[in-house]
Amino acid sequence: MKFSSQLISILQNAHSVGVLTGAGISAESGIPTFRDQGGLWQQVKPEEMANFEAFLNNPNLVQKWYQHRREIIFNSQPNAGHLALVDMENLFSKFNIITQNIDNLHQRAGSKNVIELHGNINRNYCSRCLAPAPEPVCEKPETLRCQHCGAPIRPDIVWFGEMLPPESLEDAINVCRTAEVFFSIGTSSLVHPAARLPLLAQEYGAYTVEVNPERTSITGFMDESLIGQAGVILPELLKHLKR
Ligand code: OAD
Repeated sequence: MKFSSQLISILQNAHSVGVLTGAGISAESGIPTFRDQGGLWQQVKPEEMANFEAFLNNPNLVQKWYQHRREIIFNSQPNAGHLALVDMENLFSKFNIITQNIDNLHQRAGSKNVIELHGNINRNYCSRCLAPAPEPVCEKPETLRCQHCGAPIRPDIVWFGEMLPPESLEDAINVCRTAEVFFSIGTSSLVHPAARLPLLAQEYGAYTVEVNPERTSITGFMDESLIGQAGVILPELLKHLKR
């Protein structure tokens, strides 16, 4: 792939880089995205699985679905896109990944500065007293009850209608404030507030770059759009930067 000389030169002189990732970066690890053909939201209705009311109505069903996703995730490995981001972290004095993904693959790949906007499937907590659940993963999560109050345990994932963790959002906004280059990778940019972050970074002066095989709702606003798979584009970009 050919990269613009502008992008390479901006990156070679940059100190601070921000990255927003979505489900697309994990697609090449075999983890389904949400809105692509055959994606998760075509298999189940978000309102039946990803909101608190649905969980209260049927905690077993919701936990079983998350256990199914956990199994796919645990059996997956970080791909070339995740690994390229780990190497890129060493090229800049400030490098932060803001992820909408709950799959922990950036962390497993070795990225150090990861801000989780939507939680992490490795963690559970009590749906009533909010105490962290000591045993996040087990054979039958649907049977898990809080050891303090006996209420059902829920996954630590932000559901529709819930607030993002305020500290994570604040950290993400700070990344947007300071990034000289900001990447939006593998996200359809349809879910807010995450979808707004690349535009915010641009308002603060960042050079914005999208990596996605498809156009998205923000493609037209980005300074550059790199069309293709993250697992191909990011290693190639890294090679150019190391030259
Ligand atoms: P989506 O499923 O909405 O979008 C996935 C994006 O990844 C699409 O734009 C694809 O074109 C792109 N894509 C697919 N394969 C790719 C590849 N190999 N390399 C790069 N890009 C690729 O997923 P998100 O945008 O992450 O929220 O969805 C945002 C949120 O919506 C999720 O975090 C989830 C969901 O509801 C919660 O669960 C709270």
